[in-house]
Amino acid sequence: MFMAGKDDRDSRVALPQECNSEGTVAFLHDYHELSKHGFEAYAPGPETLDWDNQPNPFRDFAGSDGYPLPLLAQGGGPSWGTVLAGQREAEAITPQTVSRYLQLSLGLTAWKQWGPDRWSLRANPSSGNLHPTEAYVLLGGESGLPRGLCHYNVAQHALEQRVVYDTGDWPQQSFGVALTSVLWRELWKYGERGFRYTQLDVGHAVAALAYAAQAHGWQVVLMSGVSTQTLSHLLGLQRPEYTSVEREYAECLLWVGANLQEKHLPDFETQPQPLADWQGTPSKLMQERSLYHWPLANQAMLASETSVVPSAQRLPHTLLRTSSSAHPSVADLPVSFQEVVYGRRSAVAFKQETMDRPRFDAILSALFYFQTPLSGHTVDYIVAVHRVEGLEPGLYAMPAHLDSLSRLQKCCCRWSDWQQVSHYGEAALPLYRLEAARVQQLMATLCCHQAIAADSAFTIGFIADIKHSSEQAGAAAYRQLHWQSGFLSHQIYLAASALNVAATGIGCFFDDPWLQWLGSGPGGMQMLYLTAVGTPRKDERVTTLSGYHYLDRDVC
Ligand SMILES: Cc1cc2nc3c(=O)[nH]c(=O)nc-3n(C[C@H](O)[C@H](O)[C@H](O)COP(=O)(O)O)c2cc1C
Repeated sequence: MFMAGKDDRDSRVALPQECNSEGTVAFLHDYHELSKHGFEAYAPGPETLDWDNQPNPFRDFAGSDGYPLPLLAQGGGPSWGTVLAGQREAEAITPQTVSRYLQLSLGLTAWKQWGPDRWSLRANPSSGNLHPTEAYVLLGGESGLPRGLCHYNVAQHALEQRVVYDTGDWPQQSFGVALTSVLWRELWKYGERGFRYTQLDVGHAVAALAYAAQAHGWQVVLMSGVSTQTLSHLLGLQRPEYTSVEREYAECLLWVGANLQEKHLPDFETQPQPLADWQGTPSKLMQERSLYHWPLANQAMLASETSVVPSAQRLPHTLLRTSSSAHPSVADLPVSFQEVVYGRRSAVAFKQETMDRPRFDAILSALFYFQTPLSGHTVDYIVAVHRVEGLEPGLYAMPAHLDSLSRLQKCCCRWSDWQQVSHYGEAALPLYRLEAARVQQLMATLCCHQAIAADSAFTIGFIADIKHSSEQAGAAAYRQLHWQSGFLSHQIYLAASALNVAATGIGCFFDDPWLQWLGSGPGGMQMLYLTAVGTPRKDERVTTLSGYHYLDRDVC
């Protein structure tokens, strides 16, 4: 159906002209099937990893004007409870607040060292710590900040000016954040499945940006009506300076600020920015060309792009609204937002400790904190409970909303007796027990034999009907469902961090064995991602340094 592609460092893989939207949806279903791990074989991926040629997780733009940002003072800032309650007054947009915003969402939070190895970690998690997501900031020229498009250089915590825009009619006291993916960073390690991981990572990054906005009293709008094509143009991703480096693909645009109103947001679709005088050259991320090519992942990226359409057909922008107040267990926690973000660390192992029930409820309640996260698509939950006080170990299901209950029941048709477990306090979690059983060993097996899925207190799976969503919303739904799953997992991560436990995303799992166990028929719902939660086991051999210990900067 699609032309076999070259890898993404050479050129874009051309999709044939005759490929209509049904064709791209069908291709993405084929891609999903091909990128599945099974008991018999893992998805196509590299047989060996050339560690000396690992893509650099940091990109910079040599030759651009740089704006070093002040660093965050340790301690202080709003409490986690007030951030969740949406009680923050909007802060002014200044170099200090934009700096804090980026550091608390996408910045470095630690460096780890073990023997000769040293690696950085960020506020947002990433599959394999490969960090395919790059961020750009679109600024309207608020005092002390550059005007136009800047790349966020994570390693230097600095803005790099790419182009100056005429931003005359942009709303005051607001700015844009655009995300892109360097797909090759994931393909290098994960082969064809890597595209799925880039999309989950985007979801985590969007959630990190949404929570950090909330901490500044700002709103966030996902500008769903801005097509990938327009965003790519706006960010200059098709420009000649990218031809000899690893390509970046446009993902999404967020608009951030106080009291955002849709009618005042910039209309990039019908009023494209005149772009001239670009600065800087994107850095090359690998020393040598890889011998591997993963054409289907590249094509999946292209097939799920959106193009410019008449305004009546555009998706409405989505205001990422918070819907519920914080769970009683977290509202008064003596922990700051900054501590939650800095404390968020994926557990590499869990201690097999029992979690108390209020904590379990509070963490699951976080899933309902943002209303309609990212898209109108539904992602439901499967929860394997191993060690939670007062809750029988076993398999549970939780529909995202009442309307999705019957679809979830059809998917998990191995069980007919759905017992709604009693609610706890004010947290009315729609949790149904499907089977009381010890499922630790099974979880580890289904999650690529990973012990974290079994040693956690519970492991939650994000499951969705890709076919239904893409029939309704087209090929872009494939990305959006992954974004949504990453977003939801991020909420679990932060809630776990606030409650002094930890989470770990699980992208490696056996797709069809999962579905067969649930009783889901072919072509039905698909498992997209999982997250294990429990008491982390610390590795005392690993030492920790602060995220920007090597920068000598003013603090804000
Ligand atoms: C999409 C995604 C998939 C992941 N899959 C796994 C996994 O299968 N197993 C695992 O141990 N960790 C997994 N992780 C956790 C990452 O390894 C971790 O985020 C990364 O090492 C950075 O560490 P940090 O989260 O502490 O910043 C995943 C993370 C993400 C975002």
